Amino acid sequence: MSKKRFANKVVLITGASSGIGWATAQAFASEGAFLMLVARREERLKELASICKQLGSRSEYMALDVQNQQKLNELAKKTISMFGHIDVLVNNAGVGHYGDFDTQTADQITQVINTNLTSTMLLTHQVIPYMKEQGSGSIINVSSVLSQRAIPKLASYCASKFGVWGFSSALRIELQNFGLHVCHFCPGLTKTEFQQHANMPDVSQSPRAVSSEAVASKILDAVYFKKNEYMMSKAEAMLVRFYWLFPRFTGRIIKFLN
Ligand SMILES: NC(=O)c1ccc[n+]([C@@H]2O[C@H](COP(=O)([O-])OP(=O)(O)OC[C@H]3O[C@@H](n4cnc5c(N)ncnc54)[C@H](OP(=O)(O)O)[C@@H]3O)[C@@H](O)[C@H]2O)c1
Repeated sequence: MSKKRFANKVVLITGASSGIGWATAQAFASEGAFLMLVARREERLKELASICKQLGSRSEYMALDVQNQQKLNELAKKTISMFGHIDVLVNNAGVGHYGDFDTQTADQITQVINTNLTSTMLLTHQVIPYMKEQGSGSIINVSSVLSQRAIPKLASYCASKFGVWGFSSALRIELQNFGLHVCHFCPGLTKTEFQQHANMPDVSQSPRAVSSEAVASKILDAVYFKKNEYMMSKAEAMLVRFYWLFPRFTGRIIKFLN
């Protein structure tokens, strides 16, 4: 039998109650990791913890809103007190609100920035001291192809993910002498609950949309092979390059397509 790649590694995953986080938790569990699962929906976390236990993993969960800074501080401490170390932090919780920017409420704009960007930064801020002490650790920021090319009707979302890109890029340089790894991970269109919650058109039949299991598998590879940047779709990677070379022209095409 092949050796499990994450045997006894402790993985903290936010946004574990559905989609990419849900699939990533199970993928890590199958590879021998111990898990701390985080999201607001407690029943889902309880169910996932039980599935992960059946896969042979020790799994705990904490139901919280990542917008609550106090809870993030408690989360890092609780993970350490339960497991003794944190080897992988997957900042995955995310939301979007689809629509013209001027029609969004201030609460919707703030929710997107706080959930996708601020919570990623604040939880990472809590976890880094433990990783520095260990002299090892991986921080995976689940971002988006929209971190490097913008589309209309998702202005707050693009702003949050461009922010995650900037944060990840700076942090990687800062932490490279401490043996810590930072990955900016960019899924493309993925079949999850995201579009429904964001009030976006259904993507389940789109030939471009992939499963959350396919994304999860690449997240594990990105940790294992210490990838700095990972873009799920090769076509998207090309589009991003084109966007940076010819921003005005690409902007017109994107406007036409959306
Ligand atoms: N689906 C796509 O096409 C796609 C493409 C590119 C990038 N992404 C990114 O992938 C990540 C995962 O999204 P997904 O597609 O898997 O969507 P999803 O199925 O809607 O999952 C989002 C997760 O985030 C959690 N979450 C949202 N707000 C939270 C809050 N305030 N506090 C705690 N947890 C919160 C949700 O749990 P609760 O509701 O239980 O709190 C859920 O577990 C996101 O960062 C998203 O931006 C998705």
